[in-house]
This record gives sequence, C-alpha cells and structure tokens, in this order.
Amino acid sequence: MNSFGTKLRVSIFGESHGEMIGVVLDGVPAGMPLAEGDFLPDLARRRSGARGTTTRHEQDTPRIVAGLHDGHTTGAPLAIVFTNSDTRSGDYASLVDHPRPSHADFVAGRKFGGMNDPRGGGHFSGRLTLTLVAAGVVARRMLEGIEITSRIMSIGGCSDQAEFERIVEAAMAEGDSVGGVIECCAAGVPVGLGEPFFDSVESLASHLLFSIPAVRGVEFGNGFAAAALRGSQNNDLILDPSGRTATNNAGGVVGGITNGNPLVVRVAVKPTPSISRPQQTLNLQSGKPEPLVIRGRHDACIALRAPVVVESALAIALAQLIPTDGKI
Ligand SMILES: Cc1cc2nc3c(=O)[nH]c(=O)nc-3n(C[C@H](O)[C@H](O)[C@H](O)COP(=O)(O)O)c2cc1C
Repeated sequence: MNSFGTKLRVSIFGESHGEMIGVVLDGVPAGMPLAEGDFLPDLARRRSGARGTTTRHEQDTPRIVAGLHDGHTTGAPLAIVFTNSDTRSGDYASLVDHPRPSHADFVAGRKFGGMNDPRGGGHFSGRLTLTLVAAGVVARRMLEGIEITSRIMSIGGCSDQAEFERIVEAAMAEGDSVGGVIECCAAGVPVGLGEPFFDSVESLASHLLFSIPAVRGVEFGNGFAAAALRGSQNNDLILDPSGRTATNNAGGVVGGITNGNPLVVRVAVKPTPSISRPQQTLNLQSGKPEPLVIRGRHDACIALRAPVVVESALAIALAQLIPTDGKI
C-alpha cells in the first residue's frame, strides 16, 4: 500500500521514468484558496542543478487535475501530477541483473518478482519526493500559526558550513557520495497535539520521515545524546503556564504530546548509493560477484535537496493531528 494518514490521507504514485508522478490528498478542507503557483517556491527548493546534485533537469511543473474549482479546494480528493521528461532509461538496463549496492534494485526485484519498473529506480526513486513536497504545501496550509523550517547541520560528518562545498566536491572528484544531517523545527505548535501511544507525535513524524528514501535515522530533541545524561541534566524545567521550558531536550514532545515548545527533529541522510567509482555486485544471472560501474545521473549528496522534503513530511504528520473543531 502506498497511502499514509487518516485525517489527511496521502497517496503517491508513479515511477522515475514513467509518464508522470503524482499525489492524491484526501481530507483537504473545502474552501482553501490554492493555485498551481503556490507550489513553486517549495518545489524549487528541491530542484536539482546545484553542484552535488543530479544533472537531470525536470520542469517540476505541478498540474492540479482534481479537487480544485474557481481557485479554491472543493473538499473532494485533490490530485496533483508532474510529467517526467528528462529520462535516460538505457542507463539502468544492466541494473536488473546487477543490483546497485544499498539501492532498492535487489529487494524490488525479489519482492515484485521482477515486475517492478527498474528505470531510474522506478517507484523507489528520490524523484517521488517531489510529490511529498507538493503534499507538504497543502498540509502547511492546514497548520495555521505553525512555521516549519530546516537547515543542514552537517555534511559528511562535518558541521562547519564553510566546509560543506569542499566535502561534496572531494567526494565527487573520487566518484563517491556523502551523507548529511538535517534539523527541522516546527515553531508555534500548541500544547496537546498527539496521542499517548500509537499516534504519538514522534511515531507519526518518524513514520513519514523514514518514508523518505535515504533517511536512516530520526531523533527528537537531544535524541540519542539523552541516554548519556542524568535526569538532572536532561529534564526541561517548566517556566510558565504556557508550558515553555528552560531547555528543549525533549524537542517539544513529552508523552507523545506536544508541550508548547518548538518541535525539533533531526534526520540522518545516507550517502547516495549510486556512485560512479567501481564497486562489486552480484550478477543475478550467473550468481557470481562482478565489478559494477553505475551510469546515469545522480545526486552526490542527497542531503542538499532533502531539507524541504523533511519539512513536508513533518507538515503531513502534524496535519493528522490538527482537530477540525479547533479544540485540542
Ligand atoms: C531527494 C532525493 C534524491 C535522491 N537521489 C538519488 C540518486 O540520485 N541516486 C541514488 O542512487 N539514490 C538517490 N536517492 C536515494 C534512493 O532513492 C534510496 O537510497 C533508495 O531508494 C534506497 O532506499 P533507502 O536508502 O531508504 O534504503 C535520493 C533520495 C532523495 C530523497
């Protein structure tokens, strides 16, 4: 299944080199002003073109094909599609029998009995995150008063921003790739969103964040570092009836419920699996290991394009929790 959510149900479809990709959003309130142009700023933040990103150039022009009338949402499912045009599927032909290490080629072939679309990574491609960003634009509209921002905290293990470019260039020069950490913050979140157990804010947000291809870790507040602290160091002292705390080690969520402080989450993005330096893989026909040289156009550092995707995922998660009557 490829849907998430109950209150705002998000279904994505398409393949990297298919005719189009898209998203269907069910649960969008009627009467929300919306235009195709509203999507462009966030879509542009994800676009390729900068150093360290793929040289595949897509227009990423959104087309709203359902759920909109006279410039406002109708309350019926909202469907947004994007055409794929800059595809070079030949680059991927050999990968069916020579799966890329740490990409989904092997598991996709096994799970779907070889029926999956292998071109450009098919449905597993980072291209599908365009649809998440489109969904995020709509979700943000539903989160009145909440502002979601993000920043790249580190690239290749280095947190000195001045070094990011050099680190990406060095990896590219060696036909390699690098990962990074992105921190995302939602400010203006009221006290009381989320449920104690299965629909805890962390559970819903992690579900969405781990759906982003290449995300390998998620932590809230001080996350794993909390395990090394004492309670006296980790506890966030409550300062006033709004719930404001002296520190925000909890990252704005306690007991699965937002506590009125900024919601802070960090995600670890792995280095791009498709690297141009030779690697070893298995030839699935012969069953023997063979050298693999990956062709095609790839991001050297996915983290450079992922911040807006992370923001969108968090927005979709929070949109599940906003009560329709405005009462928390
Ligand atoms: C914005 C974005 C762009 C990506 N670009 C590439 C790419 O150019 N080449 C590649 O091999 N993987 C790329 N990926 C990652 C793969 O899709 C992903 O690693 C793969 O599907 C395996 O899934 P996993 O890493 O979540 O296990 C990208 C991911 C995102 C979010």
